[in-house]
Amino acid sequence: MTLTTHEAAQIVHVELAERSYDILVGTGNLEEIGTRVSAFAPSRVAIVTDETVGRIYLDRVRASLNAAGLASDAVILPPGEATKSFERLTELCNALLDMKLERGDVVIALGGGVIGDLAGFAASVVKRGVRLVQIPTTLLAQVDSSIGGKTGINTRHGKNLIGSFYQPSFVLIDTDVLTSLAQNELRAGYGEVVKYGLLGNAPFYEWLEENGPGLLAGDHAKQIEAIARCCQAKAEIVAEDEKEHGRRALLNLGHTFGHALEAWAGYSAKLLHGEAVSIGMVLAFEMSEEIGLCPNGRSRRITEHLQAAGLPVRVAALAERTGGNLPNADELIGLMAQDKKAKGGKVPFILVREIGDALVTDQLDPDGLKLFLEVRCKV
Ligand code: NAD
Ligand code: GLY
Repeated sequence: MTLTTHEAAQIVHVELAERSYDILVGTGNLEEIGTRVSAFAPSRVAIVTDETVGRIYLDRVRASLNAAGLASDAVILPPGEATKSFERLTELCNALLDMKLERGDVVIALGGGVIGDLAGFAASVVKRGVRLVQIPTTLLAQVDSSIGGKTGINTRHGKNLIGSFYQPSFVLIDTDVLTSLAQNELRAGYGEVVKYGLLGNAPFYEWLEENGPGLLAGDHAKQIEAIARCCQAKAEIVAEDEKEHGRRALLNLGHTFGHALEAWAGYSAKLLHGEAVSIGMVLAFEMSEEIGLCPNGRSRRITEHLQAAGLPVRVAALAERTGGNLPNADELIGLMAQDKKAKGGKVPFILVREIGDALVTDQLDPDGLKLFLEVRCKV
């Protein structure tokens, strides 16, 4: 295979025995998709995308496939969380079957986490599994959702409750695509980038304190460096605990609080996932300080960094997005109890001993949690 090499390009390997794969991180990678996919010698390639991403990038992906002698068909779905539904899954599976896709053929998920999760799930069930390639186009998808094999859709019972673990054959990340991403989406993805530093890599967090502003301003070298470090961190965790029986839960730092806030806001543009995680991470640090697990001052330090990145850090930040409404402690506790990771009624929280040192616990005192949230829901 002849490939263009880019100065700053990086390759991260996910070691999962026969399901191992590479994550390619660089600029201009999109043009290589044809060469990369042709290595699998598929007879057909299906590109799944949404209307927004498709309008900007579909022609480039198809041109690269064409140049490699690969014919492709596209399925273009509406953008937004509502697309992760049974109805769209049925539509997509039928479209893939109409194309007469065979097991050796390839589904390319070209989009953010919504398209990656839906197309990944469809690829895992059509003909009991066709090859999947992820081309994540949001920062969140590049550092999180496209890696590690979680796929799925939402139901009336909640988010991501139907799905599968299905690893891609490779992940192709091109930081060029971040130039067309809305600033609030970029910042929300940055919340997940910071999460990797906070949960297990203090030197990376320090690097972000220095280089985060450049990354957000569009510096490709900094973006590649940060994305590759996040992918490396996730790859190591997934290699050790693919199906989330243990350490993978650390990736949920900020998510127990964050999911409750997102659910309260109706999973809407009022509060993006990464924004909810930002508030959730601050709460996790404050809670850890309050129970004496983490030295004081850490929550202030991360609050300052997240705030400087333009992310919300307080529950009260929701007021200006909801016409003054705020959740109360009981509402949030009720929503947390529905967490799909709850076992025997106990909800797992990710707390911290230090920046870069997270742990999982289901031993939080319920009265303490309620008091803590009563205060935090007002500030
Ligand atoms: P998204 O897929 O909805 O994308 C956000 C918006 O940005 C969409 O409107 C999309 O059309 C647009 N967009 C995407 N790329 C663009 C680009 N390059 N230029 C211009 N516009 C672009 O949202 P997301 O934040 O990427 O993903 C959220 C989803 O990811 C949620 O459903 C969440 O559950 C899921 N998720 C999954 C995992 C996992 O491990 N599978 C992890 C985290 C999140
Ligand atoms: N986004 C969390 C995980 O992949 O486990």
